[in-house]
Amino acid sequence: MESKAIGKKMVCVTGGTGYVAALLVKNLLEKGYAVNTTARNPEDHKKVAHLLKLQADNSDLKIFRADLTNEGSFDAAIAGCNIVFHVATPVNFDSQDPESDMINPAINGTLDVLKACMKAKTVKRVVLTSSAAAVSINNLNGTGLVMDEGCWTDVEFLASAKPPTWGYPVSKTLAEKAAWKFAEENKIDLITVIPSLMLGPSLTLAVPSSIFLGMSLLTGNNELVNAMKGMQMLSGSISITHVEDVVNAHIFLAEKESASGRYICCNINSSLPELAKFLNHGYPQYKVSIDFGDFPVKAKLSLSSEKLIKEGFSFKYGIEEIYDQTVEYFKSVGLLQK
Ligand SMILES: NC(=O)c1ccc[n+]([C@@H]2O[C@H](COP(=O)([O-])OP(=O)(O)OC[C@H]3O[C@@H](n4cnc5c(N)ncnc54)[C@H](OP(=O)(O)O)[C@@H]3O)[C@@H](O)[C@H]2O)c1
Repeated sequence: MESKAIGKKMVCVTGGTGYVAALLVKNLLEKGYAVNTTARNPEDHKKVAHLLKLQADNSDLKIFRADLTNEGSFDAAIAGCNIVFHVATPVNFDSQDPESDMINPAINGTLDVLKACMKAKTVKRVVLTSSAAAVSINNLNGTGLVMDEGCWTDVEFLASAKPPTWGYPVSKTLAEKAAWKFAEENKIDLITVIPSLMLGPSLTLAVPSSIFLGMSLLTGNNELVNAMKGMQMLSGSISITHVEDVVNAHIFLAEKESASGRYICCNINSSLPELAKFLNHGYPQYKVSIDFGDFPVKAKLSLSSEKLIKEGFSFKYGIEEIYDQTVEYFKSVGLLQK
């Protein structure tokens, strides 16, 4: 049978079972790309349900088995592709051994994906999903600091102070740095997208952990509200972006010839007390507490998306739309009262 993909641009999205990659796959198919995506276990029907649904309507989607800890396993999915979106990353905030669970697989897996791009000889650009966690963590003091693409998280500080969840920002920072080194040495056209915390409905069956976190003030999950406090203290702000804007930025940067380097992608810079005030006012039925004692009302820093905007990108969703849509999503999956 003749493949429908002939004549179409073929792209690879790693980790199609995840929150961001699921929407990226859908939007790329809608834009007419043929998409290869990867899953650690394509037989896990719960994890790939949304991909099977997309596949039922569009034969240009193929699912490959690949694992960041299994060298060479991305080769087949990347062979013949023009663009590779490397989105997958190990996420295990409760890990007792972040070095083995997150840091090493993130670095080695990213290098393995880049090696697969070299082997393919067809890849024109690689777009890597990094994180604000690779930019904003430092032990500077003050308020009003502005973080741009020249800023890197202070890995030495994290590795010595070991605050809760330290392994994740270390993994994202070192994986991005390793990608830049490899790309420069091997002349790969690499772009990195640096998103903040993402909200907005998910296509996946399971609700992604970042949405539980961002919705914790509304659901009243105190453990996660404390994690948000920890996030503000460590990362310097509560910064939020709609997942669709982040996905659109990935595609925009992949297609924009003049794009190069790192791009912060963040639309809302706030603090936890400011966010609580907004939610308390906007959704009075959930009785969001606005009493934060002596917790800092002002964020230490903000993430600047000026470079992305100057490139010609516009954000579609502000804070009202982000929370309106995520509240509706939480109601639809039974996590908030209707
Ligand atoms: N969500 C946010 O708020 C946020 C903010 C900033 C940056 N980011 C970045 O955005 C990207 C996507 O995040 P997300 O929220 O979509 O995460 P997610 O829903 O947790 O998805 C993570 C993906 O990575 C895959 N993965 C984990 N370990 C793997 C391994 N050893 N080999 C192959 N695949 C592996 C997972 O596959 P399985 O299904 O098999 O576990 C899953 O597809 C990540 O790079 C993350 O650092 C996310």
